[in-house]
Amino acid sequence: MDNSPELDALLARLDTGASRDRISAAADVAELEVVERDLLGRRSGAREVREAIKGLDPSERPVAGRALSSYEAGVREMLAERATALAAAAAAAGEADAAERLDLTLGGHGLNRGHHHLVTQVQRELEDIFVAMGYAVAEGPEVEDDWHNFEALNFPPGHPARAMQDTLYVKLGRPEQVMLRTHTSPVQIRVMQSQPPPIYCVMPGRTYRNETLDARHSPVFHQIEGLAVDRGITFGDLAGTIEAFTSAYFRTTVPTRLLPSFFPFTEPSAEFAVGCVFCEGSGCRVCSQTGWIELGGCGMVDPNVFAAVGIDPEEYSGFAFGFGLERMPMLRYGVNPIKTFFDGDIRFLSQY
Ligand code: PHE
Repeated sequence: MDNSPELDALLARLDTGASRDRISAAADVAELEVVERDLLGRRSGAREVREAIKGLDPSERPVAGRALSSYEAGVREMLAERATALAAAAAAAGEADAAERLDLTLGGHGLNRGHHHLVTQVQRELEDIFVAMGYAVAEGPEVEDDWHNFEALNFPPGHPARAMQDTLYVKLGRPEQVMLRTHTSPVQIRVMQSQPPPIYCVMPGRTYRNETLDARHSPVFHQIEGLAVDRGITFGDLAGTIEAFTSAYFRTTVPTRLLPSFFPFTEPSAEFAVGCVFCEGSGCRVCSQTGWIELGGCGMVDPNVFAAVGIDPEEYSGFAFGFGLERMPMLRYGVNPIKTFFDGDIRFLSQY
């Protein structure tokens, strides 16, 4: 028995091939949803076919119903397959994106990482200046013995600097034989003992004196020592070196001045001063109207010191200088009093 024309018309509308083309053309999940609605939804051709089946001859209804069911099942299967393929493609693309993604989040409050203490910064800066001039950097112990701190540096017995009011002794060994170093000069001795000339070396570190705390003095402070030992070193080399490193530190050409002074381990000895960086020499409060700022001591290495470390003073000569590290940032930033460096107040420290 032939199909009625009505049944053939309905079956013709269930076009699986055309539906497959539409499903595979869907480029993403959103498009696929539109296609699904078009093919199976309330206004779809399939729904119209279902309605139309009621108007068929009862004998033809089962044929049409089966054809519709198998069409719908096929379409659902194709939709599910396409959805899976699109999801896999999206996941792969997402991974590729993640690899190229830049995190442009603006940082919140972040963690405070901390930084070097101002004295350490100045120490490093001076080390850099001297290293650029060909100097090495050396360190020595903060607890010293009498020989390194005094004796080898030509302090005669009974020299006032050995007396209790200057030196903080450590209760160790024989009385007054072990102490907190009063200057960095004992490191000169250790360096000269450990290597033959030529020596170009700076020695920074912490030093101690039995001193009452005031605006400019502290029982603990830092010094940096310089030592050059070579053939033909002159006082002129010393003067030029002082001018070179002070100009480098203050980032301007600063005049320097040497005034006669005395240290047991240098001869001749001098105090060195720099032209006041605040008033450029015209006189102000920082330089007490003198136009000059005292920095430290210096001089030509005394032959007795060379003798103590076994360097021939006939063959070699040398200069040495030493000054307080805290003076430098006090001058550059106007830090005052000196105890500010040691209070550990984060409001001060975090400014530098
Ligand atoms: N050590 C001396 C002091 O502490 C400074 C100095 C160093 C002087 C080197 C001359 C040479 O005062």
